[in-house]
Amino acid sequence: MHDIEQSEPAAPAVGIPVEQSVGPQRTDARVLDPCSGGRMMWFDRQHPDVIFGDCRRETLTVTDNSRGNASGTRTIRIEPDTLMDFRALPYPDGAFKLVAFDPPHLVHAGPRSWLAAKYGRLSDDWREDLRQGFAECFRVLASDGVLVFKWNETQIKVREVLALTPHAPLFGHTSGKASGTHWLVFMRPNARLSG
Ligand SMILES: C[S@@+](CC[C@H](N)C(=O)[O-])C[C@H]1O[C@@H](n2cnc3c(N)ncnc32)[C@H](O)[C@@H]1O
Repeated sequence: MHDIEQSEPAAPAVGIPVEQSVGPQRTDARVLDPCSGGRMMWFDRQHPDVIFGDCRRETLTVTDNSRGNASGTRTIRIEPDTLMDFRALPYPDGAFKLVAFDPPHLVHAGPRSWLAAKYGRLSDDWREDLRQGFAECFRVLASDGVLVFKWNETQIKVREVLALTPHAPLFGHTSGKASGTHWLVFMRPNARLSG
């Protein structure tokens, strides 16, 4: 089962008009999460200093027979404040102090699976998509801004993804084979130090 229970169809990937915003219009928010999905990583999913974006707005109910899930289904709500495409962010240069970038990391996932509902899937052109995503995240960061990048390398190695941005992460956490999730922290390069 993979029913879209409510709301509009998934948004087109590019050229999403800003008027498709439904959440609070926080023009002074310092933090951007451009692909926030179900906001599961956030401790405060309504944090007033954050703009939560995504390219889709939908509610999905999928089959899930994992242990402890008596109902046999699970529902996820993707409710961004604003529909956006991380490849063409609708914000001016230098608008945010912190960007949290957690794009889809799966190329292969059952179209009706819980994983696909939760994380989305990469397109065949994922290298170009992520290259543009990184470039856009750095563009909207202030000169002293920080990028936190999350990646799970079960299907694509983190080194392949890091090759898509000219900037190197400062430090991060790698959780090894068991989990494969990496948290990597970047800072927009200091113009005074480069060249
Ligand atoms: C790994 S999930 C994010 C999970 C989220 N960090 C959480 O805590 O629940 C990736 C999200 O990126 C979204 N996405 C995929 N392509 C996108 C694009 N071009 N622009 C914006 N969001 C995109 C997907 O819809 C999906 O919700």
